[in-house]
Amino acid sequence: MKSLKIFRPFDRHLHLRELLTLMKFVLEYSAKQFCGAVIMPNLKKPITTWQQAKTYFEEILYVAEQKGFHNFKPIMTAYLTDIIDPSNIEEGFKRGMWKAAKLYPFGATTNSDSGVTKIENIFKVLEVMQNIEMPLLVHPETDVSRYTIGFLDRERVYTDEVLTLIHREFPKLIMSVEQITTKEACQFVEDSSNNVVGTVTPQHIMYDYNAIFHGGVHPYKPGAYVENVCLPILKHPEDVAYIRNAITKGKARWKLGAGTDSAPHIEEVKLSHGSCCGCFNAPAAVELYTMVFEELGMFEDWEGIKVFEEFMSVNNLWIYGIEHSKETIELVKENQIIPELVPGNIRPFKAGQTIPWKIVS
Ligand code: DOR
Ligand code: ZN
Repeated sequence: MKSLKIFRPFDRHLHLRELLTLMKFVLEYSAKQFCGAVIMPNLKKPITTWQQAKTYFEEILYVAEQKGFHNFKPIMTAYLTDIIDPSNIEEGFKRGMWKAAKLYPFGATTNSDSGVTKIENIFKVLEVMQNIEMPLLVHPETDVSRYTIGFLDRERVYTDEVLTLIHREFPKLIMSVEQITTKEACQFVEDSSNNVVGTVTPQHIMYDYNAIFHGGVHPYKPGAYVENVCLPILKHPEDVAYIRNAITKGKARWKLGAGTDSAPHIEEVKLSHGSCCGCFNAPAAVELYTMVFEELGMFEDWEGIKVFEEFMSVNNLWIYGIEHSKETIELVKENQIIPELVPGNIRPFKAGQTIPWKIVS
């Protein structure tokens, strides 16, 4: 297959950061490829009120317009805290200011210090969300109080303890398990009722945790494998294989959709002590997914291409009440080199590497 046409993809999980920090540098990479994105609320000052969401939405549209992307559609989300007011969540939803709420377990990832310490603390909010059919997006890892659970096990434990609990207590709640990295979380989505879906990043289906250690650990060498460090951390080869199969041939592949989790951090911060987790995959996210689907033999017939298109552009959009784009993009089998650094001093995922696909229109 030398070229492919699919409906313009939609990114179900994107970090754009603040207007005055990185947004002006990074937004265009996503807007070039995607018709819209679900925007994560974990700013330095998290988005906890619908008024903040409105301002943030306007800032995103402003930057998109400035860069010439007039049709990019941001879907805003609320950041859940222990003390968030359910009526604020409901009002923002009814006003159309946000379309989902994100659950960050306390301290589990970047900017999650205002996250939820105990799931029971937000039961009232979850009840309201279930009633108004507002989706819950979950970062599926144990909170920092469980620090003795290793990085590679946090998602498994959280799936077992918390995802199942939420689904049992709120069986009708629309829930998306974000950036699935384990077989267990994937099976949880596959085996739960239809209101439970999930997103998958390119890095978690391209690499397993060995990609962080290739060539040894070089903490002071720019470009060592810190760009492969994200949360949840890359997992075991068996997990990667399971998820690759689930999105292409699995029994519930229609519940799994592309969410890049593109998460830019400036190079200095990425290389500093304590670092920051996140892969900036936006410069070629669609092409990275394309590589994986090609490797898995999905471009040999029309059916396989359709599965790819659904994964990229259609699946799960119903949870946000939106239709897929009717525009198409064309990908061609042509090399492109991922830049080493992009403006804003951000090192992309796969920096300096040549990849075999390119979007041409
Ligand atoms: O790697 C990650 N980076 N995972 C997250 O959950 C958050 C994100 C970020 O905001 O940088
Ligand atoms: Zn994220």
